[in-house]
Amino acid sequence: MEPIKVGVIGCGYWGPNLIRNFVEIPTSDVIIVADLKEERLSTIAARYPKIMVTRNYKDLFNHSLDAVVIATPPVTHYSLAKECLEHGLNVLVEKPITIKSEYAEELIQLAAANDLVLMVGHTFEYNAAVHTLKQLIDSGELGQIYYVDTARLNLGLFQRDLNVLWDLAPHDISILLHILGRHPISVSAHGMPCVFDGIHDVVYIDMLFPDNILGPIHVSWLAPCKVRRTTVVGSKKMVVYNDIENAEKIKIYDKGIDRPPYTESFADFQFSYRSGDILIPNIRFSEPLRLECQHFLECIQNHCEPQSGGNQGLEVVKVLEAAQDSLNKNGSYQEVIKW
Ligand SMILES: NC(=O)c1ccc[n+]([C@@H]2O[C@H](COP(=O)([O-])OP(=O)(O)OC[C@H]3O[C@@H](n4cnc5c(N)ncnc54)[C@H](O)[C@@H]3O)[C@@H](O)[C@H]2O)c1
Repeated sequence: MEPIKVGVIGCGYWGPNLIRNFVEIPTSDVIIVADLKEERLSTIAARYPKIMVTRNYKDLFNHSLDAVVIATPPVTHYSLAKECLEHGLNVLVEKPITIKSEYAEELIQLAAANDLVLMVGHTFEYNAAVHTLKQLIDSGELGQIYYVDTARLNLGLFQRDLNVLWDLAPHDISILLHILGRHPISVSAHGMPCVFDGIHDVVYIDMLFPDNILGPIHVSWLAPCKVRRTTVVGSKKMVVYNDIENAEKIKIYDKGIDRPPYTESFADFQFSYRSGDILIPNIRFSEPLRLECQHFLECIQNHCEPQSGGNQGLEVVKVLEAAQDSLNKNGSYQEVIKW
């Protein structure tokens, strides 16, 4: 079978990672890369002399490509993805899929009408540690899930055209929706634009899921230490996924509280704190982005709907919109409109 011909739009910070993966995967060929900045294109041309480079993304439409990968700022995703789909090209677009849910809906319809793959780069859905979390929740090993708490903090990378909610929270929202397998009911968010007027760099989000599961998310570009942590607390066990750790990413704590049976007096009433072993499962780890890129190519070959398809992208945007509404209204709870 002929390799799938791929073009890439955007080779700033993240695009080169996508280019490297599609170059290394034998079932794809990167034919052409577009970026507005000459210096970004020179770096790519020096590293991959066989790849054509251009400052005009419309040149991609003259090379009989099968697919386009879009790694440009989120405000550009909708118009670029739309144009690529209209040219009959399968599209992998970075997160968030669009900055408005109606744009995502339009892209989903366009892809379906033209029998094309539309996928969004929710990289963590291809992460082995996140799969392990999902398995632990689905198997019932953790018991009833009380809450899933996530933190994604660092110093930078500040953006000027969107806030930290739209930049970092798509990762955590996609993780929560994926591992819980539920749609959130409501969202509230509060935060602060500390450095630049009007651009929140610290945001605390509270998501409420069915079965009273809480999903607090803390994202920040203004923190002294890098934190990438997801904590799942269940009635039987608790799990911490620390993405900063190299080898011991997941720790399963046999910890919890056993409530005593009914007691007559307060004196008889005592919680029993359970503190058992800590298990560190051995997770076979492959680069999540490699798995994501391979999945995109397989979906094109087999005409399948991706794990992180347009609908999953839309779900995340609906949550972001509700959270942004709440930020604008001083943290009041906003219903997440069902899609
Ligand atoms: N999945 C992940 O883990 C992950 C990580 C980082 C960034 N991202 C996403 O990747 C995307 C890009 O982020 P980044 O940090 O690389 O941004 P960036 O600003 O570093 O790079 C974007 C590049 O796109 C180029 N560009 C903009 N408009 C263009 C156009 N019309 N034609 C051609 N080139 C154009 C810019 O010149 C720039 O070089 C964002 O959607 C971001 O959310 C995803």
